[in-house]
Amino acid sequence: MEKNIALLRGDGIGPEIVDSAVKVLEVIAEKFGHKFNFTPYLIGGAAIDATGNPLPQETVDGCLAADSVLLGAVGGPKWDTLPANLRPEKGLLGIRSAMGLYTNLRPAKLYPALKEECPLRADIVAQGFDLMMVRELTGGIYFGERGRREGKYGPEAWDTEAYSVMEVERIARAAFEAARKRRKNVISIDKANVLETSRLWRETVHRIAEEYPDVSCADMLVDNAAMQLVRRPSQFDVVVTSNMFGDILSDEASQITGSIGMLPSASLGATTRGLYEPIHGSAPDIAGQDKANPIATVLSAAMMLRYAFDMMDEADCIEKAVDKVLEDGIRTADIVGSSGIEAIGCKQMTEEIIKRL
Ligand code: NAD
Ligand code: IPM
Ligand code: MN
Repeated sequence: MEKNIALLRGDGIGPEIVDSAVKVLEVIAEKFGHKFNFTPYLIGGAAIDATGNPLPQETVDGCLAADSVLLGAVGGPKWDTLPANLRPEKGLLGIRSAMGLYTNLRPAKLYPALKEECPLRADIVAQGFDLMMVRELTGGIYFGERGRREGKYGPEAWDTEAYSVMEVERIARAAFEAARKRRKNVISIDKANVLETSRLWRETVHRIAEEYPDVSCADMLVDNAAMQLVRRPSQFDVVVTSNMFGDILSDEASQITGSIGMLPSASLGATTRGLYEPIHGSAPDIAGQDKANPIATVLSAAMMLRYAFDMMDEADCIEKAVDKVLEDGIRTADIVGSSGIEAIGCKQMTEEIIKRL
């Protein structure tokens, strides 16, 4: 098959990790007889520097025309003082919205080889975990009205969270569909004891649950969920939650796998075309030093093969190579822990994965 893939390298470690995933995809193409055409587009700080706009129209058009999109990360201290509309993050939110990518799948599992890197107690680690966070990605407080005004105590700022029934219905369906392919359990996370959006969320999820009698469904308040994730992560199969709760809880879930450098994601909409992105950011503290863990991005590329192109064997091949690299004790600095193993860089990790494809 021939596929056109738009590359959004972005900022910080973005270019390093995207180039790593591209190398892996090139080897997959050769091995399985496909042709992947890669076209880079500007986003985030790099786009601001070149054009003054974090999401140039050319980038939106290129992504909409491509068969799929692979993104690194955006942002960094250089652009942190720019006005809200000109921040790199606005480019990322803009492309998710422009492509209608309301579902963000963030799988988090404990690799047996990384048990030593999990910060949890040995008896919890022994139970393992394998969960799928389904994060709503184009609504909620990220996209609500916001502003500044004069308040009771002087100048104040405000943000609003709004969810429509339609938005909750479609993300709930995405979660129940995901659960059907897994252990058939959904936990919906909200703050229904305080927030009206959460009460609507909960009612709607319960109504959609009736369409899926084969899948069990329960609610959990977000503060409890943050605690349960480190107390007994094995209780979670599919988790469905709002944009902001999902952002926060997925970083928490990533660290119990060993590192945020391990977690891939797929951002999906109504069509098969999606955007594939690691959950982490541009890691300005290690950018340009060949220290980044490319696994989250390489696994995002595997999700692209599976979800966008229906290339199951090809996706398995990448995932197995990552398993093998970890089993062989090959580590970037973020997953070395106290193992005494000498860490390798992003480029060498890429080569090690490629050797095992
Ligand atoms: P971050 O995820 O960039 O980094 C947090 C910590 O994790 C840092 O110590 C970093 O070195 C480490 N880390 C992250 N990815 C790693 C990897 N692949 N390998 C090894 N270590 C890794 O979060 P932050 O520092 O809060 O944010 C930095 C910038 O990135 C901000 O501008 C933020 O807005 C942006 N950001 C972008 C995205 C995205 O583009 N999807 C996601 C999150 C944050
Ligand atoms: C993520 C990031 C983004 C988000 C930021 C950079 C806008 O943290 O992908 O998790 O909050 O969605
Ligand atoms: Mn995040």
